[in-house]
Amino acid sequence: MDSAVVFENAVRIQQALSVIGTLMLTAYLFPRQATVEDFEEYDFIIVGGGSAGSVIADRLSECSQFKVLVIEAGGDPPMESLVPVLYPYLSNSQYDWNITSVIEPNAGNGRKTKEFNLVCARVLGGGSSINYMMYVRGCPGDYYPWARLSNDSNWAYANNLPYFIKSERMVSEEILQSPYRLYHGTKGFLGITRENRPETKKYLQAFEELGYDILFDVNGKQSLGYTLQLNTIAEGIRQTTAYTNLGANKHRNNLYVLKRTVVTQILFDENNNAIGVKALTQDSKSITLKAKREVIVSSGSINTPKLLMLSGIGPKEHLESHNIKVMSALPVGLNYQDHWLLQLSFKMEKSELPANPIKSYQTPFPVVTGYVKLNKTKSCAEYQTVNTIVPNDPEGPPLSCTFNFRYKDNICQNLYEASKGRNTMETALILLHPKSRGQITLRSSNPLDPPNVFTGIFSDKRDLEDYTSYVEDFVKVVNTTYFKSVQSEIIDLKLPECTDWTFGSREYWRCYVQTMATTSLHFIGTASLGSVVDSKLRVLNVNRLRVADASVMPSQTSGNPNAVVIMIAEKLADFVKQEHGLHGQCS
Ligand SMILES: Cc1cc2nc3c(=O)[nH]c(=O)nc-3n(C[C@H](O)[C@H](O)[C@H](O)COP(=O)(O)OP(=O)(O)OC[C@H]3O[C@@H](n4cnc5c(N)ncnc54)[C@H](O)[C@@H]3O)c2cc1C
Ligand SMILES: *[C@@H]1O[C@H](CO)[C@@H](O)[C@H](O)[C@H]1NC(C)=O
Ligand SMILES: *[C@@H]1O[C@H](CO)[C@@H](O)[C@H](O)[C@H]1NC(C)=O
Ligand SMILES: *[C@@H]1O[C@H](CO)[C@@H](O)[C@H](O)[C@H]1NC(C)=O
Ligand SMILES: *[C@@H]1O[C@H](CO)[C@@H](O)[C@H](O)[C@H]1NC(C)=O
Repeated sequence: MDSAVVFENAVRIQQALSVIGTLMLTAYLFPRQATVEDFEEYDFIIVGGGSAGSVIADRLSECSQFKVLVIEAGGDPPMESLVPVLYPYLSNSQYDWNITSVIEPNAGNGRKTKEFNLVCARVLGGGSSINYMMYVRGCPGDYYPWARLSNDSNWAYANNLPYFIKSERMVSEEILQSPYRLYHGTKGFLGITRENRPETKKYLQAFEELGYDILFDVNGKQSLGYTLQLNTIAEGIRQTTAYTNLGANKHRNNLYVLKRTVVTQILFDENNNAIGVKALTQDSKSITLKAKREVIVSSGSINTPKLLMLSGIGPKEHLESHNIKVMSALPVGLNYQDHWLLQLSFKMEKSELPANPIKSYQTPFPVVTGYVKLNKTKSCAEYQTVNTIVPNDPEGPPLSCTFNFRYKDNICQNLYEASKGRNTMETALILLHPKSRGQITLRSSNPLDPPNVFTGIFSDKRDLEDYTSYVEDFVKVVNTTYFKSVQSEIIDLKLPECTDWTFGSREYWRCYVQTMATTSLHFIGTASLGSVVDSKLRVLNVNRLRVADASVMPSQTSGNPNAVVIMIAEKLADFVKQEHGLHGQCS
């Protein structure tokens, strides 16, 4: 099968899954649709029932005196969201806003389209319903800037750790019986497991031979080295917050979930108090819903800044250019950051055997993950590698190449031809702390238009040089004993852009990085702590309005953000409970 056929088959599988979706077999797991009246009043309105929003709704509705409404643009997660092995089919689906970036001059030639597909969940549970399920908290040093920018040591790692632990339900016996037990919770909602598959051992040894530490658990004391991955999977089910926080509490009679409804504006009174929202229901009716205490925006890093700007909170000139009345002039949409990712492939063990059948309750293939720094003065990793050991597949190139990363067909075809008869190691090498910044702006004042997303990729040239150095560092793994014993080779993808350079030279790798770099979908920073929200996540210069989601992260952590976003949501719920006189406790 060639690359284009693998791609078309994936689309067909998605279509078949969407037919099954019409049966709504999963509906019984989730709260039923709230019936709302125009101008109905709640204590709290949460805009977006994603990774953060669902957790906030859960924690606030623990207080029976609070009437809590979550408004979510999408519907219930389908079966393929609950079954871990099907995660590749959730991107670019009906559960995705399908937002694309503005075309950047500096990158993207290796992809099917020059603009990036900024996969962004439109479904209850948000990113936690469609993501790749990696559970990573980042490195303690990642949080120094958070404390500094918010002028509040409450955002330092030591004060975040209790909230990571609070949300967690660690299931892995291996970890619970180790000294790392201290770093994990067992009473939270978010079930966490790790897969320990035998194939990973030789790979960990290869990285150890290169001088990296092998970590039993990257969430413990140390955050540099190679390790097995923790996943938001438990009892064989994806831990979407739709399931762990809303579904699990669907009996609460003070928790209301309004699905397939898009919030179009935050409403204020004459004293700059947020008093409610305007929304468009599934049958295109415009309604107003009122919040007696607060509105909390958790619409994700792309839609949160859009909603704030539509509501008059954002850069003054930009809002005025769209005839929007300015409520609070703030740098909303600026400071956009992502983690860049590129794929590298290695020929590994010879294998003519058909692959073992894939199991539904785990990720498809064994994985080892690395966190590496080259600069000795840094405390956190500079790059991450997610190394998947992919069994020989005579059928065609991997789905990740053609469908998820959307590399051009010639690239995936060359990968397939080069790896015939061999297992491969497919590495996603991720730039953890890019210096480039992007921006989100309004395309128009119509709430149904997507925003403009300028990713800013490689606008700071140091990113390209650093990234090239990380690739050069990583590929040394081909010379380790194990890799040599299986005659490993870096696969030459024969990129037409890079034929001028000698394969493996620094110039070649720089060209490779520029061609292959794409988004890892870790957008953050568009309503940052310290510049748009204060340390209690209150939007500056207005009242009764907070933001809690990935957009408040002022800088990237050294890993994937979902666990971090859930930690932020846990903290927000405590801030709100304290301010409303409950001191963090509710019966
Ligand atoms: C494909 C993919 C793979 C990823 N893999 C990983 C991974 O393996 N590990 C990891 O840690 N992170 C991963 N991430 C990132 C992580 O999932 C996100 O950072 C996280 O989910 C962000 O949470 P959030 O609450 O900020 O936003 P979201 O979870 O996106 O929630 C926002 C919600 O708000 C809703 N919404 C938006 N606008 C409106 C509106 N106007 N009205 C009503 N509702 C609205 C959206 O529909 C959405 O459900 C991945 C992300 C993607 C897309
Ligand atoms: C996103 O695009 C896919 C593929 O074209 C489509 O099936 C899906 O309905 C779109 N999602 C939304 C929310 O429109
Ligand atoms: C290493 O990191 C330090 C501190 O972050 C920085 O000042 C220095 O320029 C870095 N060195 C290199 C070679 O990048
Ligand atoms: C592997 O070792 C050979 C021989 O020493 C060397 O020429 C080559 O550059 C090394 N490869 C990498 C990727 O470091
Ligand atoms: C933090 O303190 C600095 C200096 O006192 C001040 O300029 C800044 O506005 C403060 N930031 C926040 C978010 O409070």
